[in-house]
Amino acid sequence: MIERNADLSRANTLALPARAECLARPDSVPRLAEVLAGRARHEPLFVLGEGSNVVLAGDLPGLTVIPALRHIERLREDEQHVWVRAGAGAVWDQLVAETVARGWLGLENLSLIPGTVGAAPFQNIGAYGAELADVLEEVEAVAVEDGRTVRFNAEQCDFGYRDSLFKSRRRGEFLITHVTVRLNRQGHCRTDYGGLAQQFDDLPARQITPAAVRRAVIALRQSKLPDPRALANAGSFFKNPVVDHAHHQRLLAQYPDLVAFPHQQGVKLAAGWLIERAGWKGRNLGPVGMHREQALVLVNHGGASVSQVLTLAGAVKDDVQRLFQVELEQEPVVLP
Ligand code: EPU
Repeated sequence: MIERNADLSRANTLALPARAECLARPDSVPRLAEVLAGRARHEPLFVLGEGSNVVLAGDLPGLTVIPALRHIERLREDEQHVWVRAGAGAVWDQLVAETVARGWLGLENLSLIPGTVGAAPFQNIGAYGAELADVLEEVEAVAVEDGRTVRFNAEQCDFGYRDSLFKSRRRGEFLITHVTVRLNRQGHCRTDYGGLAQQFDDLPARQITPAAVRRAVIALRQSKLPDPRALANAGSFFKNPVVDHAHHQRLLAQYPDLVAFPHQQGVKLAAGWLIERAGWKGRNLGPVGMHREQALVLVNHGGASVSQVLTLAGAVKDDVQRLFQVELEQEPVVLP
């Protein structure tokens, strides 16, 4: 049940070479509890989903768990809502596909996001104007410390932009086993986000089905974001930075075409625009580069080492800092 010295190069979408000292893929909560109970108390513990948001900086010591609970079930329903519960190891887009196929609203904007269901709350996945936080009903997890089951509602998850309790404040304390989402049987889909809005411009809201939104989101993503199976990457490599109004105004005076969006704490800048303007779009440094269709995505053309990835990320950050006085924050998590 536990594999030793396991190769992780296919278990991370950036395709970095690394090994796990011990690797387990438990497919039920009792098996997961067994794996955790068998671990020495101070042994490091890592959790991976599809490895689509990590930078493996070296071999992982101790125990690595890849949850394999893949069950998707309709939990309950009423006239307006349907609650769907999925195991942490289920493929996220399969959950989206199955719920959209039934005509339920809520996950369509999050179509084709790589990764597993268990990873979704960890970084509060978001795209095209929607976030997991909008539909999340409950996260079930196992406490690493003593194996007890813990439940979190959306508020308790402390969701922020690509952030949560699990990623920040209580990092490493819980292993997510299930996620329940609350979907709508009817209502209007969200199509107000940039690229999406244009496609549905002339249609009345009631004619816009979740299936149509899913098709549009998939087409948009495929036109910009590289499929990790064809070109290794970990999605957006940096978060979109938030600056204050004065800073925004200064930049706007200098760069009238600056792309920015309103935000509670100031103005959110499009990191892809900053990186493109800094000259990095489609530019490579050895085997790694910033993607030619979407400058926010760092790609591994093959055989890259972690130091080559971090050198490129550092060069991009330095140039953006120098040109725009903006500090980019890396989005994928570095392990170990
Ligand atoms: N832009 C450029 N050049 C580029 C890329 C983007 O000028 O090379 C500008 C464009 O003007 C565009 C704007 O930036 O209008 C926004 O670009 P896009 O709609 O592609 O979205 P993003 O802000 O770059 C975010 C998420 C993506 C998510 C998309 C769509 C983050 C860090 N990234 O990217 O999420 O798919 O919005 O909602 O928030 C991920 O997290 O891994 C991810 C891919």
